[in-house]
Amino acid sequence: MDQIRIEGGQRLEGRIPISGAKNAALPLMCASLLTDESLVLRNLPRLSDISSMAHLLGSMGISFSILGDDEPHQGHMGRVISLDGKKLTSTRADYEIVRKMRASILVLGPLMARMGEATVSLPGGCAIGPRPVDLHIKGLEAMGAEIDLRDGYIHAKAPGGRLKGGIIDFDKVTVTGTENLLMAAVLAEGRTIIKNAAQEPEVTDLVICLKAMGAQISGEGTDTLTIDGVERLHGATHDIIPDRIEAGTFMVAAAITSGDLFLEGARLEDQPAFTEILQKSGVTLEQHPDGVRAAANLKDIKGIDLVTEPYPGVATDLQAQYMTLMTLAQTPCTIDETIFENRMMHVPELSRLGANIDVDGNTARINPVSSLKGAEVMATDLRASVSLVLAGLAAEGVTTVNRIYHLDRGYERIEEKLRRVGAKIQRVSSETTPKAGNTLRQVGT
Ligand code: UD1
Repeated sequence: MDQIRIEGGQRLEGRIPISGAKNAALPLMCASLLTDESLVLRNLPRLSDISSMAHLLGSMGISFSILGDDEPHQGHMGRVISLDGKKLTSTRADYEIVRKMRASILVLGPLMARMGEATVSLPGGCAIGPRPVDLHIKGLEAMGAEIDLRDGYIHAKAPGGRLKGGIIDFDKVTVTGTENLLMAAVLAEGRTIIKNAAQEPEVTDLVICLKAMGAQISGEGTDTLTIDGVERLHGATHDIIPDRIEAGTFMVAAAITSGDLFLEGARLEDQPAFTEILQKSGVTLEQHPDGVRAAANLKDIKGIDLVTEPYPGVATDLQAQYMTLMTLAQTPCTIDETIFENRMMHVPELSRLGANIDVDGNTARINPVSSLKGAEVMATDLRASVSLVLAGLAAEGVTTVNRIYHLDRGYERIEEKLRRVGAKIQRVSSETTPKAGNTLRQVGT
């Protein structure tokens, strides 16, 4: 099993291209289920989650053609892929795939919209909390779906083969829940209103694409989406937005190495709250027409409290990375995780590197230390794993991160990108044989 080995203490300087957003790409790929014409997606990142989704959609009859790589523009160098769902051959998503990638649940809405039926495995528990899908199910029921939960599967059917518009008022903001119901509503009969909808830029990106396919949607970027169902959708070409979580991660990389990075294609407007917190803590962030400059001197970084919240608040997907930076700040701070129940698993690993963090429930108090020391650590989920890479960049000596399959789910060629700006980082094959239970675990970030 591969490991990442980092020799810390190098100042990072240079340009890093930001890839297309994984969390935008996954629902956009599922939107191909909604039409019998081609959906062309540009700036698709090369990630294992994208391959898993392609595998799942392929099993349903979607065919893929790689149209090539984009001309690099503003750092966008992702693939261009055409997804064709002329004829769907299956409406089933098996446990094997859903357990590996929770975002597989995103096929439920579009399958119900186009085929009037779907059988999708329940995701089950995962490393960052129980993460139920009850809100997805309730929403579909509000649109007339009959749902039967049996044998660990969601068996959903629309009477008469077509969903009906309804009012969905989410108890809790859910990103993939909003995306699933949006995709269910675009072909339903009549009007659907989604209240307390997620406002994440990835949701807006999906709305832009669905509209280009002929959907009638208003309210994007707000907490209320109104969808008037249409009879059919057509093909479209869509540019995926840059990955704000990857960009935020590299902002932290600049700060923690007292570096100066230019993140090609990044947009501060996609993460207003995180931008504000980093700036308050002493990181220079400048928006330029073609990207963001992030620079800092670690000796000037202050501890600023952070609370994760639905957008426009600070993304939970940046919490672990920020915590790593705070372990080396000049003053203490607290971090409250309000989105997921079990998202502090990076704390014991950071402690192995010498960090001093007290955890009480979902609140962490970070007591800064003067330095981290390299050690062997283990990635537990996608964002936790990158927080360990960041820690390794700043730590004295060598840090080895194990179980990096988590990293490959969401960070495109991270060691290459970091090496090009001065990091001493390499991917190596571990001599240890994988133990039982070391195989891909489901963590749906
Ligand atoms: C998405 C992102 C993930 C990010 C998360 C929160 C994708 C592919 N993944 O995950 O990277 O960390 O948003 O920003 O876009 N909940 C319920 N019932 C439901 C659905 C959700 O109780 O039916 C709860 C969850 O357990 C969690 C909260 O709602 O506590 C938010 O989860 P949600 O926004 O749905 O996360 P995902 O869409 O899975």
